[in-house]
Amino acid sequence: MPRISFVNGNYLPHEQATVPIEDRGLQFSDAVYEIISFFGGKPLDLIPHLERLKKSLEGLSIKYDVEKGYFLDLLEQMIARNKISDGIIYIQITRGVAPRDHAFPKGEITPTIIATVRPLDMEAIRNRLTNGVKIITVAENRWGRPDIKSTSLLGNVLAKEAAAREGAYEAVYFDHHGIVTEGASSNVWMVNNEGILVTRKTDGKILPGITRLAVVKTQKGAVKGIEERPFSRDALKTAREIFLTSTTSFVMPAVNLDGKSVGDGKPGPVTRVLQKAYQKYIKEQTGQTVF
Ligand SMILES: Cc1ncc(COP(=O)(O)O)c(C=O)c1O
Repeated sequence: MPRISFVNGNYLPHEQATVPIEDRGLQFSDAVYEIISFFGGKPLDLIPHLERLKKSLEGLSIKYDVEKGYFLDLLEQMIARNKISDGIIYIQITRGVAPRDHAFPKGEITPTIIATVRPLDMEAIRNRLTNGVKIITVAENRWGRPDIKSTSLLGNVLAKEAAAREGAYEAVYFDHHGIVTEGASSNVWMVNNEGILVTRKTDGKILPGITRLAVVKTQKGAVKGIEERPFSRDALKTAREIFLTSTTSFVMPAVNLDGKSVGDGKPGPVTRVLQKAYQKYIKEQTGQTVF
């Protein structure tokens, strides 16, 4: 079964799915992206993902009309052609191809759109969701607009590599004031000693995660209270529970931070409740029990 990928309206064998070397996505990371999961062939939170895509494009002044019908068709085609019903679609839109010059090209330029799909390793994910993961903290090293989902991910790449070297799943950023921003590819949550759920607000210093948004909705009535506000690395170190959220991490318990156990070193009760609430949320949209 050959893997099929998408470039500018064409469905091609993956190896033939290429872009010109002067694409600005390649030259400058002048591009945005989205990763959307689908279960039983149905996308999860398609509309919020497309709304964020639109905002990211506007943030970089890339002129591209985000139409729901177009993306639904793209998703359906990719699912059918790759015969995958559970997985993720990666969509990238770049400013387009132009002779290399930093400033935006003069005149009309057609954005490049590419997409790939792949299955998720649900067995490995379920295992991590059950047992929890190890995380480390690292100094913030990214450009000043992490709220735009751009492909400028070099800082994130270096942070993830630092985590991988420590045998950790994720690197959590803290800024020069010692305040936590987010993970290199996730949003960060903690349950403090009063039992309150705390996560940073979407203040421009984090990516407004679609999973984060879903958990903000689904936690209602399930926890003692929620505060969306900045919190420090020191506060994180004394948290009862920590978890991460992202499209591919769901509600992921962190049981070890910088080499020390979080709480009793096991996923905590609030995290478990929120995992279940998110599980239900996925089932309501896709009909699937995912983890
Ligand atoms: C830096 C960063 N923060 C947060 C997230 C979580 O976003 P979402 O829940 O939309 O996957 C991601 C996802 O890739 C990310 O890269």
